Amino acid sequence: MTTESFDAVDVIRTKRDGGELSSEQINWIIDAYTRGIVGDEQMAALNMAIFLRGMNRSEIAQWTQAMIDSGETMSFASLSKPTTDKHSTGGVGDKITLPLGPLVSSYGVAVPQLSGRGLGHTGGTLDKLEAIPGWMADVSNERLMEILEDSGAVVAAAGAGLAPADKKLYALRDITSTVDSIPLIASSIMSKKIAEGTSSLVLDVKVGSGAFMKDLDSARELARTMVDLGTDAGVNTRALLTDMNTPLGRCIGNSLEVRESVEVLAGGGPADIIELTCELARNMLELAGIPDADVEEALKDGRAMDSWKKMIRAQGGDPDAPLPVAPHTHDVLAERDGYVTELEALALGVGSWRLGAGRARKEDPVQLSAGIEIHAGLGEKVTKGQKILTLHTETPERFERALESINHGVSIGDEAPAPRTLIHDRII
Ligand code: URA
Repeated sequence: MTTESFDAVDVIRTKRDGGELSSEQINWIIDAYTRGIVGDEQMAALNMAIFLRGMNRSEIAQWTQAMIDSGETMSFASLSKPTTDKHSTGGVGDKITLPLGPLVSSYGVAVPQLSGRGLGHTGGTLDKLEAIPGWMADVSNERLMEILEDSGAVVAAAGAGLAPADKKLYALRDITSTVDSIPLIASSIMSKKIAEGTSSLVLDVKVGSGAFMKDLDSARELARTMVDLGTDAGVNTRALLTDMNTPLGRCIGNSLEVRESVEVLAGGGPADIIELTCELARNMLELAGIPDADVEEALKDGRAMDSWKKMIRAQGGDPDAPLPVAPHTHDVLAERDGYVTELEALALGVGSWRLGAGRARKEDPVQLSAGIEIHAGLGEKVTKGQKILTLHTETPERFERALESINHGVSIGDEAPAPRTLIHDRII
């Protein structure tokens, strides 16, 4: 019989009473939880104690390291090019990864984006790309290296071996209302990114009603915590704080977002998607040793589109095949003349999810063609009867529940709202 070094009850009590967890306690509890010695009920209690009491910088660093140590780590050191990655804390209509990876890789930089599937109101990058006929998220480590060396950009499912403790913990946090804690979010994201082995990383920390962080101060604290964790682990890290009060772009939902991303890669698309893609690309390229890149030009002259096609083909997809289209649509019309004063990210994200674009449990399927198209964006002038949104679904009985959420998030007023600030700050 093996004897355990600590008792979970003591560890929980230490944090419940506001104390500091020692490195040994943290290493033990993460390892014992991964091995199944510490049960979900005890880990849930500890998560709640951390949610309420917080963790200091050294506790967060140790918690992150213990999660990294729970699994394998990757290395891209054998590649002939520098690596850079981007991670967004999650937002509605956030398809930036799709144009960004090919744009950055068109400069000869490797962009290994190990991503997840959507849970709740924000969509997952893998679900979006699976709308492309033939495209496959599962790529072996050998193939990943080959694609990175050759075409340069990969979006793939993170292997089960990377930070397995985080996978277990994240699922538990999801069902115990302990997701939106700065120490737990920061350690969860950074354990995966550090284990992935990228040499530089740009974080897109969302702030607003559709994001984990509702106000700028907490978004700044999350960004600072993650940048410090990355830097301390030798990953050249910086963060942008960007708006998530209203969706990004004009499309929410898997195939709709692919369509919009392709528009951006073809030199068009919505201004906010172009601005954020270019700002993130410039930051990634700077960290990878390529300052002053004219990334707008690379979107316009077809270089980024060529990389996109290569990236999709490398994973079995046909970039020229038609995307799935929903058989049922419903238009939301303006009830009066005026300006769109509210187009609220969370309400639209939940609406799109209820239309079938997202999943409630991780094993649920998603509807590739479901989602929302925005015809009149925030601040636009509309006249009574004009189309503001079109809802798409494969199952029309979903319209009613989706509209309950969407109708709460759309308002028309007499005066135009203040213009949106898309990029609030940069943390280095
Ligand atoms: N994304 C993650 O990977 N972890 C979190 O805790 C929150 C968002």
